[in-house]
Amino acid sequence: MLCDRVWRNARLATLAADRPGLGTINGGILACSEGRIVYVGEAADAPTFEAAESVDCEGRWITPGLIDPHTHLVFGGDRAHEFELRLGHATYEEIARSGGGIISTMTATRAAGEDELVAQALPRLDALIAEGVTTVEVKSGYGLSLQHELKSLRAARRLGEARRVTVTTTFLGAHALPAEFAGDPDGYIDLVCREMIPAVAAEGLADAVDAFCEGIGFTPAQIRRVFEAARAHGLPVKLHAEQLSNLSGAVLAAEFGALSADHLEHLDAAGIAAMAKAGVVATLLPGAFYFVRETRAPPVQALRDAGVAIALATDCNPGTSPLTSLLLAMNMGATLFRLTVEECLAGVTREAAKALGRAGDTGALEAGKRCDLAIWDIERPAELVYRMGFNPLHARVWRGL
Ligand code: NIG
Ligand code: FE
Repeated sequence: MLCDRVWRNARLATLAADRPGLGTINGGILACSEGRIVYVGEAADAPTFEAAESVDCEGRWITPGLIDPHTHLVFGGDRAHEFELRLGHATYEEIARSGGGIISTMTATRAAGEDELVAQALPRLDALIAEGVTTVEVKSGYGLSLQHELKSLRAARRLGEARRVTVTTTFLGAHALPAEFAGDPDGYIDLVCREMIPAVAAEGLADAVDAFCEGIGFTPAQIRRVFEAARAHGLPVKLHAEQLSNLSGAVLAAEFGALSADHLEHLDAAGIAAMAKAGVVATLLPGAFYFVRETRAPPVQALRDAGVAIALATDCNPGTSPLTSLLLAMNMGATLFRLTVEECLAGVTREAAKALGRAGDTGALEAGKRCDLAIWDIERPAELVYRMGFNPLHARVWRGL
């Protein structure tokens, strides 16, 4: 069999849905042609490969390249000062209501040019890539005007050109109410639906549309209008739901066949049932839970019982989760939310791909998928979840190289 590259002598955690657990193959071999996996299996059963390059993995583990399915990587400035205020006992919601929070990042984001936004985001992206990330979702949501939302999404798209990584972009215009619409949230939602979404769709700048369903964000009625506009433009939706309170955002997300509902600390039984029925992925964000010092964990056991797919993400953002380590997000998913090692690893590979609508393309080691790999210097996959602040990545492969 002719191929471009073959990796031999590897232990493979394939995460293939039709194999149990991590889908482990010992003494594995993986072959790639034109950026896609063409063979995965035990070396003993494999055909003979004629490859331009053969890599001896010396027994190392290979997992699918990691996927971070929820980030706000593009933003101006930082919120270290608000972190200090919170250490002095101000809460996240108090800071947001007094004009800080998302709005302070909006001011810095509007002041930055597109090049500057790219330059500020690249070190964050590089930190993710250094841990084996091959796909990352990036949201807008700190521009909050047509001009600045488009600028943010263009910056996000450029990240995918500047680095060897797949970037999917999400339009999050309904993230917070900018000052010029104070007292008129419906007027702002009009702008989102009538001008921003059509412009974003016309330029092909977003792969999905997201919103923040919360007391300090937008109501379900307002978000319904955003989702209808997204649907009219053929864009799938996602939702920040049930993070600080329960507004039944997950039910709304399910009604619109959302790819994912994210956060979910306050998710209830009705939300779980609706998500299970509609196949909405639960994307859990333990970094935000940790950083805001939340005490109520998402209902993981009930999600499991209902068969809802669970993804994990960094939620990298300046306010609630200045986290650029998906390995640490896995550790937090296990320690704070009691996810198993298997769930954590599936959460940043197979299930994360689902949360982005990319399950056909990446997230598992299977013939036909993109050859996105992370090769690790570990003895057991559990080490990827167990250690804190240590990076055992040996090599990263994106689309076969
Ligand atoms: O995912 N919840 C809303 N959005 C972000 C926080 C944004 C911010 O505070 O800057 C989140 O947690
Ligand atoms: Fe978020």
